[in-house]
Amino acid sequence: MPQLLHIDSSADLASSRTRALTAALGAAWRVRDGHTVVTRDLVRTPVPHIEAAAQHWPDAPGAREQASEGAWRIQEELLDELLACDALVVGAPMYNYSMPSVLKAWVDHIHIPGVTAGSVRPLAGRPAVIVTASGMSYDAGSGREGWDHGTESLRIMLGESLGMSVAVVVASRTLAASEAERALAEAEFDAARARCAELGATL
Ligand SMILES: Cc1cc2nc3c(=O)[nH]c(=O)nc-3n(C[C@H](O)[C@H](O)[C@H](O)COP(=O)(O)O)c2cc1C
Repeated sequence: MPQLLHIDSSADLASSRTRALTAALGAAWRVRDGHTVVTRDLVRTPVPHIEAAAQHWPDAPGAREQASEGAWRIQEELLDELLACDALVVGAPMYNYSMPSVLKAWVDHIHIPGVTAGSVRPLAGRPAVIVTASGMSYDAGSGREGWDHGTESLRIMLGESLGMSVAVVVASRTLAASEAERALAEAEFDAARARCAELGATL
């Protein structure tokens, strides 16, 4: 049974753009025969930060003694959940030019040399979709090109490091003030929703 791991990290539980888009992808995935979705909401149920640096190198000598049993249990649960998925969708809104800290806490648990990255890459080739939203535009010519450090670091982590096949879906200008900017935001959101539905139906 193909399984999608659906992760959300927007702290906006009422009108989040990324939550709407990841939901569209999940809905299109779920209607396919035998396809299931596992959801992890990092805002409703945050994961703690890693407890010790040793959790980044769990196989190193003496690593197990440097964090509590509970800390290792949480890390193993997150790793098992990720390794069991056939596809991944991550809602990753821009917070302060980066990703939400709740999402970064998750990344610190799952980006592990020797387990998911480096010499062993069990997720290589599996699809991952990063769905991002930002209040402003970061397009070329906006004067803010290159300022989006969240999407790019997630893309590097999931794509270059874990070897997943990454697609990025963007909804920008969500806080646009002018009518013209709002029209651009709406058009981009509609295209992003269609793309998410397409990815959910085809991944
Ligand atoms: C804590 C916080 C920090 C934010 N920082 C930025 C930022 O650096 N740049 C930006 O363009 N928008 C920023 N925004 C706006 C969000 O990126 C925007 O509202 C986006 O739509 C959030 O995604 P969501 O709709 O899925 O919640 C910030 C919002 C919050 C709540």
